Amino acid sequence: MSEIRSIGVIGLGAMGAGIAQLAVEAGYDTIGREVSVDLGEAAAGRIGGFLTRKVEKGKLEQADRDAAVARLRVTDDLSDLAGCDLVVEAIVEALEPKQELFAELERLCRPDAILATNTSALSVTEIAAATTRPERVVGMHFFNPAPLMPLVEVVQAELTSPETVDAAAAVGEKLGKVVVRCFDTPGFVVNRVLIPLLNDCIRVLDEARVTPEALDAAMRNGAGWPMGPCTLVDLVGIDVHVHASEALYEKLREPRMAPPPRIVAMKNAGLLGRKSGRGFYSYD
Ligand code: 3HC
Repeated sequence: MSEIRSIGVIGLGAMGAGIAQLAVEAGYDTIGREVSVDLGEAAAGRIGGFLTRKVEKGKLEQADRDAAVARLRVTDDLSDLAGCDLVVEAIVEALEPKQELFAELERLCRPDAILATNTSALSVTEIAAATTRPERVVGMHFFNPAPLMPLVEVVQAELTSPETVDAAAAVGEKLGKVVVRCFDTPGFVVNRVLIPLLNDCIRVLDEARVTPEALDAAMRNGAGWPMGPCTLVDLVGIDVHVHASEALYEKLREPRMAPPPRIVAMKNAGLLGRKSGRGFYSYD
């Protein structure tokens, strides 16, 4: 495989848009795919806004900002990604839609294209199994907010080739990330540790009878967390956290992995955190 020059990103929600932002800032021609052009353009607008803010803060030159924005194209047509060297999937966290998408990407993309998933808790191996070229499928797991969090986990599934892992790691480095390579185990490295820890935090709310504000203050000031656990789960999304917990519990059967009833009830009530305007906290 020659050098990766163009990147397709599928799904321009918080994670996909963050990945697309990183890609254009690093100089890749980037095509973002959303289910409608309106949603795609809204995401492009948010990316442009974050880059403008970087200019205002003196972290980016105006000309570099404009060049980065010009590298981004959005579409609602998956076949527009046919020429991409690397496609990163960041759609809904469910196995079946991801498998359908990878099977479709295999039909559309060049045989040497790399197909990456940003899944947080599903098996990369199971996603890759939907294709006949699992050696070209790899995990690239970014952290929220992707433009700010330095890590990307590059996940080697059962049949991923070492060349594919190397190529994904090289892209991660070009995006300015710290790359940690790992194998395809439930939760990979960070979520295997972080998800049960956040679930413990949520259980402590009731056990120690503290407010979200108090718990967040405790973990920030007593454990040095940059952001309290309730603020963090609101940022990640209550639904995303519940889903990741359920997926890990299903695989590992460790009680700490299971989402606490309190947060499942929040999800069922539509309190999804920042994105819905209300979670542990309220947002304007
Ligand atoms: N793109 C670009 N800029 C962004 C952004 C984005 N997507 N989102 C926010 N920003 C900008 C904001 O515009 C803000 O600037 P402004 O207020 O001046 O406009 C700025 O970033 C915030 O920058 P700060 O220098 O103030 O950053 P902080 O020092 O407050 O750090 C943080 C922010 C890096 C998010 C820090 O609070 C942190 O590390 N929090 C923990 C986050 C974390 O743990 N994430 C992992 C979640 S788990 C996960 O993602 C796994 C998944 O599988 C579920």
